[in-house]
Formats: sequence, C-alpha cells, structure tokens
Amino acid sequence: MSTLSFHDVRVRYGSHTVLDDVSLEVADGQTVGLVGESGCGKSTLARAAVGLAPLTGGQILLDGRPVPNRGRRPVQMVFQDPYSSLDPRMTVGESLAEAMPERLGRTARQAEIARLLALVHLDAARAADLPVRLSGGQRQRVALARALAARPQVILADEITSALDVSVQGAVLNLIRDMRRDLGLSMLFISHNLAVVRYVADQVAVLHNGQIVEFGPTAQVLGAPRHDYTRHLLAALPGAVPLKEQM
Ligand SMILES: Nc1ncnc2c1ncn2[C@@H]1O[C@H](COP(=O)(O)OP(=O)(O)OP(=O)(O)O)[C@@H](O)[C@H]1O
Ligand SMILES: [Mg+2]
Repeated sequence: MSTLSFHDVRVRYGSHTVLDDVSLEVADGQTVGLVGESGCGKSTLARAAVGLAPLTGGQILLDGRPVPNRGRRPVQMVFQDPYSSLDPRMTVGESLAEAMPERLGRTARQAEIARLLALVHLDAARAADLPVRLSGGQRQRVALARALAARPQVILADEITSALDVSVQGAVLNLIRDMRRDLGLSMLFISHNLAVVRYVADQVAVLHNGQIVEFGPTAQVLGAPRHDYTRHLLAALPGAVPLKEQM
C-alpha cells in the first residue's frame, strides 16, 4: 500500500505564501488530478513532495512516514519538458542505467533497460539512441521509464503531456493508465487541460489561492462542481467538454 498524504503543507517564498495549509491524500493506487490556474502552486506542491521546494510548515508522508529523499526514492517526479529533462549526451540506455538505484552487472543492466523500455512501449533497440533521435512523445516515454527505474510507489506527473503534439498526447495518456493498472502506482497528475484530467484521474483537487477549495470524484468535481471558483475555472480552462465530444 502506498498513500501519499499532504498535511497542512505550507510553502512561503519571502513574504509570498504559495501554499497555505494544504491537505490532500493520494490514496493507494489512485490517480488524483490537480488543477488550478497558472501560478497557483501546483508544481510547488509536487516539488515539495520530492524535496525540491522547502516546507515552512506541515508534513508530507508516504504510508505515514516522511518521504525518503535519498537512496531508492519511492516518490518520483516527471516534468513537463522532455527536451530538457534528458541529458543530450547520454544514450537512452545510459540514462535509464543512471536512474537505477543499484549498480547492476552488464547482463542484468541490459535486461532491466529492456524491461523499462517495454513498460513504456518502446523497442529495446532504442537503448542505443541519443535523445536527438527521438520524437517528443518518445522522449516523454523515456522520462517515464527513468522514473520507473527507481521502482517507485508514487509518480508525480507535472504537465507531462502539455509540450506534446495532440496526436501523441493520447498515446502517453493511455500509457499512464496502463502503468497505473499494471504497476499499481499512485499518482498525482497535474494538468491545466480538463479533458486530460477527466481521462486519467479518479479524483480531482482544485487549488486556488494556495488552498484546496474542492476535492472529490472526477465526475462530481468536473460535472457538478460545488464551488463558484471551480465553476469559474472550468469555464476558463481548455478541454471543458468531454474527450468524446471533441473527436
Ligand atoms: N523558487 C521559487 N522562488 C520564488 N517563488 C517561487 C519559486 N517557485 C515558485 N514560486 C512562485 O510560487 C507560485 C506558484 O508557482 P508554481 O510553479 O507552483 O505554479 P503552478 O500552479 O505550477 O503554475 P503553472 O500552471 O504555470 O505551471 C508562483 O507565484 C511562483 O512565482
Ligand atoms: Mg507548474
């Protein structure tokens, strides 16, 4: 079981309080969509969970204990831009090997690289390629495989399809759904695209002025929002109509 829970999380930069007592639970095997306007603190919340943003209050726990941020890291973040998140001088195989928590012998390492590439539906021969040979969607798959190399319990996905062409977004989203089903991962999925959130998330949290103003099942929050702010946001963000109707 792997539940990531945020308890009264506060992050302040100078006099600017970005997160103001945020409490949120990403329950075992669930995908929580996190939405809110630009600058409301979505990335900061995810970054705080992996030690990349400093907490000024509260705590973030994995199954009731502080999230380990050295050695094998059970909480892994995937970022928006697959062009800057991979080292251009490393082959795909080298990138994946570097992310593995323990040093493996050559044969075991090769087998693990092949396993990771298969998980993200890439051909094993891609291991020899440099990122420049890959499309944006393929790079984002490698970034996901890198995160999976640590055998994480929780994935924090921060706008991972925003930089991709619409034509490959769907494939990456299907991959996310497969990963959750096959690996039992818990996921915090940040996106400003409501169609995308509707497609992947079990629950949705709405962040506004540093606080969670609404949290509940996806169909309820996006279909019958309780708060004025959520209604306002739904009208302003892309993808407010269901995926099916967009095709
Ligand atoms: N390292 C930092 N130092 C100072 N301020 C920061 C820092 N990181 C984030 N902020 C501020 O915190 C606020 C929230 O930023 P954050 O990146 O979490 O927003 P976001 O919801 O992810 O926005 P977007 O949808 O545009 O990605 C912003 O006002 C930003 O300027
Ligand atoms: Mg962000």
